[in-house]
Amino acid sequence: MNQQMMIEAAALSKRYGDTQALDKVDLEVPAGSILGVLGPNGAGKTTGVRILTTLTAPDSGRAWVAGHDVVTDAPAVRRKIGVTGQDATLDEALTGRQNLVMVGQLSRLPRSQARSRAAELLGLFELDDAADRVVKGYSGGMRRRLDLAASLVMRPPVLFLDEPTTGLDPTGRQRMWGVIRGLVSEGVTLWLTTQYLDEADALADSIAVIDHGRVIAQGTPRELKSATGSQLLEVTLSAPHAGAAATVAGFALGVVTVSDDGRRLRAVVRSESGLATAVLRALDAAGALVDDIAIHQPSLDDVFATLTGADTAAESSAIVEGVLA
Ligand SMILES: Nc1ncnc2c1ncn2[C@@H]1O[C@H](COP(=O)(O)OP(=O)(O)OP(=O)(O)O)[C@@H](O)[C@H]1O
Ligand SMILES: [Mg+2]
Repeated sequence: MNQQMMIEAAALSKRYGDTQALDKVDLEVPAGSILGVLGPNGAGKTTGVRILTTLTAPDSGRAWVAGHDVVTDAPAVRRKIGVTGQDATLDEALTGRQNLVMVGQLSRLPRSQARSRAAELLGLFELDDAADRVVKGYSGGMRRRLDLAASLVMRPPVLFLDEPTTGLDPTGRQRMWGVIRGLVSEGVTLWLTTQYLDEADALADSIAVIDHGRVIAQGTPRELKSATGSQLLEVTLSAPHAGAAATVAGFALGVVTVSDDGRRLRAVVRSESGLATAVLRALDAAGALVDDIAIHQPSLDDVFATLTGADTAAESSAIVEGVLA
């Protein structure tokens, strides 16, 4: 048997009107590890979290948390999870301590236990000094930490953190990373969404890159980084050509992006000798006239941008299988 999977998603799909927020997403997270779900705005990160935390039902597909089906066994799932959403759900008029005690009491902890757990968490998150001030006066970083603390009151074995460091300054991010590492060292399983490659790199055991609701690349940080050992292919055509993107896709590790004028194609490709010649021949055979072809080393950001087509219109992206290895 493989390692026990604490979170499993199988062909999860969700549509809002014309937007396919999630499109047949398959992902799994082994117990005690962190999956970093990396994607730009609107990629579907929050939708995924909402489905897995039972707040939204999927249109199709299934998912399990700690072995419980998120649709048919939602109460059991809720007992296993902690969630920190993109928007903090704190009571501004209460102090940090009162917020944590209230969460404990809502979860039916006796008041004395709720108070001792609150004190413990305030210490862990370095919020002792601010504990008895109202949240209204907290900084962004303090709110984030208190929000995370609130999700930990009941010691859930599975945690969902939706962009836990967005909006934090570098010190705030570092501190949050420390807290997250501490949780995982205690055996917590974590689903962490982020827009930052460095964050996924620093924290995650495995990274899934999602865009337009699809998983477009997946691998360990090492595997993703070895993609920087891959190269960036740029082709300039004499004139737009209908079959060119598909031809280039045959060599690509991710999305092929096409410029608005249809003449410039970019893709991350595996480094191999003779590649430029092979691409040229294939384009020639497809009837596309090439003005220029260049292959160079991409940065980590290039890999991400190219995989997600972040710098071009979605319509011009031909999405291809993008498993990095
Ligand atoms: N309740 C909703 N009604 C309509 N559209 C929605 C709803 N929730 C999400 N969407 C759309 O689904 C897509 C995915 O949204 P989602 O919030 O999951 O993205 P995200 O990756 O979390 O983005 P961000 O980084 O901005 O938080 C977007 O196009 C969004 O506009
Ligand atoms: Mg979101």
